[in-house]
Amino acid sequence: AAALHPARPLDGVRVLLTAGPTREPLDPVRYLGNRSSGRMGYALAEALTALGARVTLVSGPTALTPPPLEQVVQVETALQMHAEVIARADACELFVGTAAVADYRPVDPAETKIKKERAALEIRLERNPDILAEVAARRPAPFTVGFAAETERVEHYAHGKLVDKGLDMIAANRVGGPRGGFEREENALTVLWPGGQRDLPMMAKPRLARALAELIAERYLEHHA
Ligand code: CTP
Ligand code: CA
Repeated sequence: AAALHPARPLDGVRVLLTAGPTREPLDPVRYLGNRSSGRMGYALAEALTALGARVTLVSGPTALTPPPLEQVVQVETALQMHAEVIARADACELFVGTAAVADYRPVDPAETKIKKERAALEIRLERNPDILAEVAARRPAPFTVGFAAETERVEHYAHGKLVDKGLDMIAANRVGGPRGGFEREENALTVLWPGGQRDLPMMAKPRLARALAELIAERYLEHHA
């Protein structure tokens, strides 16, 4: 099929993709969040669709209008994202985790607004489930692509995540500092897979998303060859 439709190498392939940040409530009006804009994930969802994929997007809160996709599911917390992904994991051939999922959530969010009664406030956090690792551990597992946001030793940590989570591919992203990937128009990625690596140089996010989508398609088809 790939040879017959070179422009649509992912024709009919069902993709599940997470994007954006998550918000972890502290009380009814406050949350713990992060600086992910969701732009890379939305652009990748669009680029995979252009290659023929049927993309379901599970998105945390962003300021973006989703592109036309098979399905868009909006969530707020990591636990909600986890539930929506696990419910759909067996119905996809390809999973892409671009979301900046909060690693921790407040243990016991307050039911009413926290008042500034005390000079200091302690908040206890507990670990969120690792959505990507859970999807990769399923049997059968979809072809699984992760992202790694790192401020230092980018390749070293990304390779660790590829191996530890049992991923098929990981796209590593330098964040923070002048060349960081969050809240920026441009980005660069180092993509790793078992036995290979490719650097995608600094470029506008939509173009980078297209280059990454093509590389994902290439590795996915190789995997299923
Ligand atoms: N991820 C996930 N669920 C989580 C945390 C992360 O699915 N609870 C996914 C992200 O979507 C990303 C990948 O795991 O594709 C790596 O996220 P990252 O934050 O870079 O790594 P962590 O494994 O969370 O490790 P750490 O934050 O300690 O570097
Ligand atoms: Ca993390």
